[in-house]
Order: sequence, then structure tokens, then C-alpha cells
Amino acid sequence: MAKADLVIVANRLPVDRVVGGDGQPGWRRSPGGLVTALEPVMRANDGAWIGWPGGTETGLKPFKEDGLQLVPVSLSEEDVEEFYEGFSNGTLWPLFHDLVAKPEFHREWWDAYVRVNRRFAEKAADVATEGATVWVQDYQLLLVPQMLRELRPDLRIAIYLHIPFPPTELFQQLPWRRQLLEGMLGADLIGFQLPGGAANFVRLVRQRVGHKTHRDRVYLPDGRIVRAKAYPISIDVEGFEELARSESVQARAKEIREALGDPETIFLGIDRLDYTKGIYARLRAFGELLSEGDLEVGRAMFVQVATPSRERVEQYRILRDDIDRLVGRLNGDLGQIGRPAIVYMHTSYPREEMAALYLAADVMVVTPYRDGMNLVAKEYVACRFEGDGALVLSEFAGAAAELKQAWLVNPYDLNGMKAALLEAATADPKEIGRRMRAMRKTVTENDVKHWATTFLEDLTELGDGEALEVETAE
Ligand code: F6P
Repeated sequence: MAKADLVIVANRLPVDRVVGGDGQPGWRRSPGGLVTALEPVMRANDGAWIGWPGGTETGLKPFKEDGLQLVPVSLSEEDVEEFYEGFSNGTLWPLFHDLVAKPEFHREWWDAYVRVNRRFAEKAADVATEGATVWVQDYQLLLVPQMLRELRPDLRIAIYLHIPFPPTELFQQLPWRRQLLEGMLGADLIGFQLPGGAANFVRLVRQRVGHKTHRDRVYLPDGRIVRAKAYPISIDVEGFEELARSESVQARAKEIREALGDPETIFLGIDRLDYTKGIYARLRAFGELLSEGDLEVGRAMFVQVATPSRERVEQYRILRDDIDRLVGRLNGDLGQIGRPAIVYMHTSYPREEMAALYLAADVMVVTPYRDGMNLVAKEYVACRFEGDGALVLSEFAGAAAELKQAWLVNPYDLNGMKAALLEAATADPKEIGRRMRAMRKTVTENDVKHWATTFLEDLTELGDGEALEVETAE
């Protein structure tokens, strides 16, 4: 197996293994913002990416796909149930997203989490060259930094959390809170989306592990200093804009509008089908605007794309049924022949189609109850190169800290959301342009390259001695 100086360790590989209708295995791009953000970084650094290829196939060897060096980690049926669907997505995911759903605490799930994290750490220890940088990703692998440091003290280790880090009161519920904090502290640098998450972490470490801290630093008894800092993630802005400017995408955007019957206002939602995303509430708000006569069927339409996700987890099944029923009811009550209220697609689309949808929409609606960042909001802004298009954005998405000129909403406030949808749909084009241009400036100046470079530069500086600087702890 070829070794690498930069190793990304993420739960998923950037591609999922799929078996086609002809029985032949192939690869399909994995869902979610993490892959979108890290792929360009990997290409630029010629690194190796360790991750799960989806499914339960064993014995897969490292391989190259589309120029990327990929190292698969296999999960058994039991691992998928207990580590991925269980502890990662039935415990940590809802706990870290403000308890939007109720987290479950099961000791067997925790055991599986430890077991699988160790497998990832061992694989990383095999792949990394002497002194290499290993960058661990997200909530599924919080124990890997410590496990890896024990195996390979020569490495520079970092972890980045793509989802929110919760307030201390919520995190304390976790029976294994101390172990998770200690696991993360195996890293030299711990990255968060927002300064609030980093501050929550440092406070918890002080309270629960008892280490000294000062601002973004944690002082370990062995003399090591760990930094916890915010690095808001972004997207490949240039790439999206280039796509949006391409003739084929523009033609496709026109085609989409025509196929929808050229409504005056197209509202668009694109999300993984996840209960944190607030899809149900936003469709309800739109339905009420139609039924109360503020918007008119045919002249206004809502296009909702929901990417299938974690389909065997109960909360996700319930959500899917709820959305199916709501869309059916709204279309049944309000739709007309050839003029549905909501056009709903339960599928994932390639980037080109996404860009065409972003161009076709007048109002992009992003209303999560809680979201680490939300890259869809940034992709929409990147694609609107003509400086038009309105964005309705939840205050509780990390992106709201940067995209301040969006129509910001509280997704729990249905009337507030209705008002914002209406305002965004009827705003003066000058006002829309002013807001969009300001957001485009922010997004362009802070693309994913900027995110990765700042993170990796900070990590390198730490390794080059800054971490040894003596500073008085609190
Ligand atoms: O960004 C959060 C995240 O959970 C990533 O870690 C993950 O790759 C993505 O969403 C998609 O989720 P999943 O891998 O569970 O399909």
C-alpha cells in the first residue's frame, strides 16, 4: 500500500460502492457536505483518504478512483447497525443538534464506536509516513486522535468537527462524555465551525477532564498544548460559478423553468432528508401562504429535493413518511392539473443539475433547526453570478454567521418564516441584488481553499514549535 504525507480519515470515502443493474460494481459520489469540501483539498495535496465505502463488503484493497488514493475500511452488518446507525447517528447526531430528535444511549453502541474508531486509527497508522499529517473528520471518529497518537506519536494530528459542538448542558448527558473529550484531545488542533462550539469544548474540558485552559488552548499534564479554534467551512466557489456560467447548465436551468410551467416564483429546497433540516416546517409555511391566498398556485411553486439518507434509522423513516404525507396533502388540497403546489424529488443529483436548479430558483429556502454550516446556502450564492436570487436562511445554520444579508428566520416561528418567504419573493430586485452581492463577496473571499489552507497552516505552525510556547494558564 502506498503511504502518504497527508492522510484524511473520514467515516465515508468520497465514493460509495454500488452494484449496477448488470451486477457490476461501480462507484458513486457520497452524499453530504464533507465530501464536497474535502475533495478539492485532497486533489491539491496528493494525499490518501481512509474511509468506509458503504455496504458490508470485506477485503477491499486500496485503490485509485478519479485520481484519488482511497483506502477502504470495512464495516460488518453489526458495525453498520451499532456504530454508524447507532452511536454515530442515533446518539451523537441528535445530541449535537440540540436534541431535535431524542438521542438514545446504549452501551453496545458505545462498544461498537470504540471498536470501529480503533480500526480507523490502526489503518491511519499504517498509511501515514514518518511525521505525516493526519486530518480526522467529524463526529463518527472522535476517539481516533487519541488512539492514533498512542500508536504513532510522530504524527501531526488534527480533527475537524463538521457539525455543531453542543452546549455543555447537553453534552453532559452523554455517559461517555469524558472519553470523547479525551479522544479529541489526542489531536494537536481541533477545528470547529463556529467560535461558540470551540468555547463549549474548552469549557467542558476544564469542567469534566480538569485540564488547565486559556482562551483556545488546553494544557495537558504531559506538556502538550492542544488548540481548539473555529474554521468555518466553505465550498469550491470558483468551480460552482464556472458550472453556473456554462452554457449547458444555463440551458438546463431554462429547461427546468419551462418544465415547471414558467411560474413567476420558484422556491427551492435542497437537503439531505434529515430531521435537522426543517423541511417539514418550511413546506407547511409555504402551504399556508397558498391556502391563505398570499401566494397563488401556478404562479408560485416549491421545488424540494431531498437526498436519501440514513434510511434504516427509525427517525429518518418517520420523517420520510411525514414529508410524503404532507406533500401529498398539500398537492391534493391546493394543486391543480399541471400545477402542483410542491414538486418533490427524493433523489440525489450531480453537481451540474444542482447548479441548474440553483439558477432556476428565485428564492432558495434553507431552514434547518440546527446545522453545522450548510453548504447548500453557499453553493446557491456561488452560482448566482448575476447577483440576483434571494436566500431565506435559518439563524441556526452556521452559515448565518457569514451570510448576514439573507432573509434570516427562526424555523420554529412559522409566522416569521411565512413573512420572510413572502418578503423574499416580492422584494425589490435592487434590494435582492444588494443583499446577494454582499453575500457573494463574503463567499468568494472565504472559499474551501482558504478554509483548508488556514487550517493546515495553523497545524503546521503548532508542530513547528508554537505549541511549546509557555503561556500562563488560567
Ligand atoms: O456533515 C455531516 C455528515 O454526517 C458527514 O460526516 C457525512 O459525510 C454527511 O453528513 C452525510 O451523512 P452520511 O455519511 O451519514 O450519509
